[in-house]
Amino acid sequence: MTTAHITDDKIPNNVNLSGDRRLQRALEAWQPHFLSWWKEMGPVGFQAHDVFLRTAVSVDSDGWAHFDYVKMPDYRWGIFLEPKQEGRTHGFGDFHGQPVWDEVPGEFRNLLRRLIVTQGDTEPASVEQQRNLGATAPSLYDLRNLFQVNVEEGRHLWAMVYLLHTYFGRDGREEAEELLARRSGDHDKPRILGAFNEPTTHWLSFFMFTMFTDRDGKYQLSALSESGFDPLSRTCKFMLTEEAHHMFVGETGVQRVVKRACELMKQLGGDVRAQGGIDLPTVQKYLNLWYTLSLDLFGGEVSSNAADAFAAGIKGRHKEDKYAEHKLVDSFFAMDVLENGAVVHKDIAMRNALNEVLRTEYSKDCARGVERWNKTLRDEGIDFELKLPSSKFHRQIGLWAGLGFAPDGTRLTDEEWNRRRGEWLPTQADEDYVKSLMRPVTEPGKMASWLAPPLKGINNLPGEFEYVKP
Ligand SMILES: [Fe+2]
Ligand SMILES: [Fe+2]
Repeated sequence: MTTAHITDDKIPNNVNLSGDRRLQRALEAWQPHFLSWWKEMGPVGFQAHDVFLRTAVSVDSDGWAHFDYVKMPDYRWGIFLEPKQEGRTHGFGDFHGQPVWDEVPGEFRNLLRRLIVTQGDTEPASVEQQRNLGATAPSLYDLRNLFQVNVEEGRHLWAMVYLLHTYFGRDGREEAEELLARRSGDHDKPRILGAFNEPTTHWLSFFMFTMFTDRDGKYQLSALSESGFDPLSRTCKFMLTEEAHHMFVGETGVQRVVKRACELMKQLGGDVRAQGGIDLPTVQKYLNLWYTLSLDLFGGEVSSNAADAFAAGIKGRHKEDKYAEHKLVDSFFAMDVLENGAVVHKDIAMRNALNEVLRTEYSKDCARGVERWNKTLRDEGIDFELKLPSSKFHRQIGLWAGLGFAPDGTRLTDEEWNRRRGEWLPTQADEDYVKSLMRPVTEPGKMASWLAPPLKGINNLPGEFEYVKP
């Protein structure tokens, strides 16, 4: 039987899509556009390969992790929301304690749409940034993980497009088309946020991106999952379950780079580059780069937009429950700001400081990951410590944008900054070196020279499992 209609069977969903003909028709019209975007801007090559992927088929614990071989264009991009909690109330802001909204409140329509579009834009952007990496995958295991991340970012785009189509009428449908029209790094139609226009040109950057930039995604989704606009909250909660895997790919990816560098340091001569590895100072430079690009994604340190979104009950804090006070009318956050060219530590009205509050939680989470890398260094007996730079270092958004700071937070003159930035950020020579290592390894169980094997396989499969098959 053939049919031109999307059925529940074709788009897995738990939103009763077949019960809403108008919405079903709208998504039917969007789906072919999504697929042509995927074919044009998704992973280069491998579209006809069988890839061992996880597909969400429902939100319950056994349904959201279904593993099988699938060709990427046949991936079942579904729409899943966490089940509705009856009686849920606003957890913060001016409406604290009142019943949550099932429809978009008119006065906050633009604010909500902008937040959903901005989040939605990051999803296809990252697929575009990563589209050429398949050609140089360091193993079939890593190739499969790349594609897993890519198809799930595609599903996250579906999640945001579902909200736009369902709750925002004609302008929602227009925004959904625009999400497929912008292009990462494009001069005329760039993606909305800076870090999503930076090319992910090799696998070290891919691992740093999934460690640091996907983790920004975790914190943004977490803040939105507190939303008093209930459909947004339920959508983001389910997205977070997938995001955890992306950060796993990043954290363990860098950890394997570090482990391999240690092994090579202990071999004769100890020159990591001479033996085809990525040396630890280079790892530190890429850490500095992607961590700071990701810090920019949280927005300005002092922000009236953040205050408005909190007041409206639309964007809360990470784990709002763990805070005692949820209105934040007379509370303050002590933070560094710039006054007459000098750094001063002072109290800022809490609602205006919420970007910095979220960024601070994010930084602590990043620090825990870096500490696990340092544990690997200690376990290997190597005397080297990876460090997160100061949040003032290499910033392009907010108070510190364009000012010279060393990674330890020391203020620098422009001359010092320009002279020394190559000590802290990747130079063209570093980039050329890392790229020179990027050669595909396609034999099952084999690994590139610069990367240690994973501790275990996907779904506990053995090391020589053929994760991607022609
Ligand atoms: Fe995502
Ligand atoms: Fe992600």
